[in-house]
Amino acid sequence: MRKLTQDNITDVFLSYCGKDTDPRMREIMASLARHLHAFAKEVRLTHAEWQTGIEFMERMTEFTDAERHEFVLLSDVLGLSSLVDMINSVPGGTSSSVLGPFHISGAPEIPFGHDMKRHYEGPILLARGRITDQDANPIEGARLDIWQTAPNGLYSSQDPEQDTYSFHGIQTTGADGCYGFTTVKPVSYTVPSDGPVGDILNAVGRHPWRPSHLHYIVTATGYRQLVTEIFPEDDPYLDEDTVFGVREDLVMNYVERPPDTFPEGFDLSGNVSEPYLVADFDLKLVREA
Ligand code: BEZ
Ligand code: FE
Repeated sequence: MRKLTQDNITDVFLSYCGKDTDPRMREIMASLARHLHAFAKEVRLTHAEWQTGIEFMERMTEFTDAERHEFVLLSDVLGLSSLVDMINSVPGGTSSSVLGPFHISGAPEIPFGHDMKRHYEGPILLARGRITDQDANPIEGARLDIWQTAPNGLYSSQDPEQDTYSFHGIQTTGADGCYGFTTVKPVSYTVPSDGPVGDILNAVGRHPWRPSHLHYIVTATGYRQLVTEIFPEDDPYLDEDTVFGVREDLVMNYVERPPDTFPEGFDLSGNVSEPYLVADFDLKLVREA
């Protein structure tokens, strides 16, 4: 096409696609071109700005490797990861939330009552609840993959001072569907901001903080896998999570309890001499279609 104009370039782009193009691919590429072209026209993108964008993407690749997923982080801070999550979620269960880049596979199996806090300083948190179906029936044999930061705000994969699997574990529910473990109270922390994503945050006056949370992946035969996080109500960043992970039903309260009420059946039972926090949170799964 030589009679190319600002008005017909999107249609021309489409006309260049082969007749045998996969229909879903065609739909996605057509929409991408439509929005990309409309965006450039709307902001009247200059050559210099276009060049800045290209250099930004090149820097993104320099910051990306097997350990660091700068593109995932970009998607997270733009709200795209959460949007995709919400588009694909089904009603009736606990909301899902972002996976983030710090989940590691192969975490150790931990029994009910296991202590993940070990020697780390900070308030003891007893996290417990039930894994149920939509009718509140317990699910036996559900697997709960748990991970969080150490009190320094770093995940084990970011911190050479930690063991590979510190603050990571997988617990399997019994017939009552219950899970329970102790850990240290999670802290708010910043997402990696020393790369191009951090530059974007800076440029638009945004901070890199996430509210404190526990990450969970719940897997059970016959149910949709749930990737989620739970957040305490009193966290100062709850309403400004830089990766848009908070949902109303994922917010819980810590309840402070005196040491003599610490329950039986936990590694720390009989050895708690200070008040401890309890996070009671049930996780509801939706049946697979
Ligand atoms: C996280 O919660 O681990 C996380 C999520 C998105 C981006 C960075 C970190
Ligand atoms: Fe996290």
